[in-house]
Amino acid sequence: MTAIVATKGLCHSYGGMVALNQLDLEIPPGAVYGFIGPNGAGKTTTMRILTTLLRPTQGEAFVAGHSVLKERAAVRRQVGFMPDFFGVYDNMTAYEYLEFFAGAYQVAPERRARLIGDLLALVDLGHKKDADVMGLSRGMKQRLSLARTMLHDPALLILDEPASGLDPRARVELRELLKELRSMGKTIMISSHILTELAEMCTHIGIIEGGNLLASGDVASILRSLQPHRSFELHLLPAEDQTMAEAHAVAMALLSTQPHVLEVRSLPDDAPPQLVVDFDGDDRAASQLLAHLIQGGIAVTHFAGQINDLEDVFMRVTEGSAYGGTT
Ligand SMILES: Nc1ncnc2c1ncn2[C@@H]1O[C@H](COP(=O)(O)OP(=O)(O)OP(=O)(O)O)[C@@H](O)[C@H]1O
Ligand SMILES: [Mg+2]
Repeated sequence: MTAIVATKGLCHSYGGMVALNQLDLEIPPGAVYGFIGPNGAGKTTTMRILTTLLRPTQGEAFVAGHSVLKERAAVRRQVGFMPDFFGVYDNMTAYEYLEFFAGAYQVAPERRARLIGDLLALVDLGHKKDADVMGLSRGMKQRLSLARTMLHDPALLILDEPASGLDPRARVELRELLKELRSMGKTIMISSHILTELAEMCTHIGIIEGGNLLASGDVASILRSLQPHRSFELHLLPAEDQTMAEAHAVAMALLSTQPHVLEVRSLPDDAPPQLVVDFDGDDRAASQLLAHLIQGGIAVTHFAGQINDLEDVFMRVTEGSAYGGTT
């Protein structure tokens, strides 16, 4: 399948300052691509290039096969862009705001009323149709802005930090909305500083820092490649003549002889008491490990992969590489 976004050796400098350094990025159609990086990483710069608002100093980028350098009009038809701030629009209702942009996007006048009604309903602002735009809350403005990006029915939505400044409920609503857009067949590129904010709503992620793409791919393989091993949590039931500590000791002796087991820790004072096994095998090896314990007469009541802290992973990847290679 051809990528809906592809950049090749994309570079951008502001004056002498390198903001993007040889970016090779691909987004498959239908993906929700989380573009993650700290302040100044180059996220907005990349997005502005992909939406033809900024000309790269070097390299190429394609949206739905169209060059952002040579086929700007075709690219613009395929992309809806939600910038990271909302401009000031005095004395305009939500409806008028969308009508204004529908005109700019050359939506036929007879189609506008219905389209705007549908989009306001999609972003759950039907009841604010006649409200003054500047009187809307931040979350409502974000949603109105999102409706605006869809007026020309683009295949790709590029959303620059749509979750920033939203309360927890509005974030959940945004996530639901993205899910709905995805089911409508849209590809979505969304930026954030916060990996955890995106990992659960994205199918793919790219991590950028100092203008360099540090990792890019589907969420599962990125997380796998960033985490050299995983951990399992075990709860045991001691035999009738055993204490928990004794049960742990028996299990630890057995576990430490098994393939792929890197380390076993006993945490008898935790509630419930548990063993933590650091493990570098695949799922089949994990199931064999469990089978081996049970065959060894150990009563296992819980065997589960620990969710590694995504923020830790992010800090590990971006640590030390900051601004490297941008000279
Ligand atoms: N118009 C500009 N003129 C000069 N330098 C700029 C301009 N826009 C961005 N930069 C610089 O380019 C680098 C990348 O900025 P960019 O806005 O792309 O980062 P970002 O990842 O979007 O950051 P943030 O999370 O803060 O939005 C930064 O060092 C920034 O200072
Ligand atoms: Mg930005």
